Amino acid sequence: MGITVKRLLDAFLGKTVWPPPIWLMRQAGRYLPEYRELRSQTTDFVSFCLDPTRASEATLQPIRRFGMDGAILFSDILILPWALGRELRFDEGHGPRLPPLRTVDELQNLQVQGFLEKVTPVLETIRLTRARLAAEHPDTALIGFVGAPFTVACYMVEGGGSKDFAETRKMAAQDPALFDGLIDRITQASITYLLAQIAAGAEAVMLFDSWAGLLSPTSFEKHVIQPTARIVAAIRQHHPDIPIVGFPRLAGTMAAAYAEKTGVSTMGVDTAADLNLVRQLVPSTVGLQGNLDPFALLSGGEVMEQEARAILDAMKGRPFVFNLGHGVMPPTPPDHVAHLVDFVRGQ
Ligand code: CP3
Repeated sequence: MGITVKRLLDAFLGKTVWPPPIWLMRQAGRYLPEYRELRSQTTDFVSFCLDPTRASEATLQPIRRFGMDGAILFSDILILPWALGRELRFDEGHGPRLPPLRTVDELQNLQVQGFLEKVTPVLETIRLTRARLAAEHPDTALIGFVGAPFTVACYMVEGGGSKDFAETRKMAAQDPALFDGLIDRITQASITYLLAQIAAGAEAVMLFDSWAGLLSPTSFEKHVIQPTARIVAAIRQHHPDIPIVGFPRLAGTMAAAYAEKTGVSTMGVDTAADLNLVRQLVPSTVGLQGNLDPFALLSGGEVMEQEARAILDAMKGRPFVFNLGHGVMPPTPPDHVAHLVDFVRGQ
């Protein structure tokens, strides 16, 4: 095996690489016919995530088709609560369902010791995928991930998706001992899980904080910045040079403090943020990633090119990774993804 320089890892670590590396959140998923075929072989989504052969295949599907610079582990952020002992189902059309966590007893019953055994299949997916990338796509880097503690807590407390996660925010405000205890346990487990992912072959890791934007600046500091900083510090103790990407979705102006205080190498930027302003708020040592509107990708053509061009113009000369501002939408034509990759590579 020769030495390969992976452009994505350089960009994640704050080097300006141009044209910028590209990968897409939810690049594996229902918009790909080969994913739908693979997915149809397993009835429930949790079993699919825990099947290393199929999960590895799903990870590689978009790489074979489009040759992205990054392959993201095929799994889900809710596999961690499942491994901690919470039941998890994905019902067609309803998204995830878990039993809501609302009491001290339920908190104390979380299996923080020994949960890692339950995610053995995910670690096997990483090993398999890394070996297959080395053989077939040596320039593509493998990205591991977790949900950030606040976002994982949102799903655990609420018991599934929600527009505003009112029960979660109520608990955070009214029962801080319970909520802080939950954030603490998720943080601890996330450190263990990410270290195991890195040991299995993940070359970068990402923390998805999809609901970070629901919080006030004070709560954001406590439930987003502090736990994220703790995870970053713990990982860096063992792996000082591993790229760590944080994605505080819809954080608005709070993203500046996130970039400064968490220690992430690169910050993901959501669709609603103006990259020209973000650029001014974030130190140039922190890479940025984002933020094409998934609906521009869905539309394709001129609309997509114009929006992509504006992003590239705003980020020129700065460490940057091209991505969407949120995940690929299921009705997206795969040809639009191929076109986007060509367009960005043509810069
Ligand atoms: O390419 C990839 O990004 C694959 C890995 C991946 C999935 N989910 C696969 C998945 C990753 C990194 C995630 C992260 C995730 N999961 C987040 C954070 C990012 C975000 O979207 O904000 C969240 C909040 C979840 C929780 C989750 N998982 C929800 C709310 C849903 C249902 C909604 C939906 O889109 O169906 C899922 C299911 C899920 N996770 C699917 C995939 C491909 C769809 C399942 C299917 O029908 O095949």
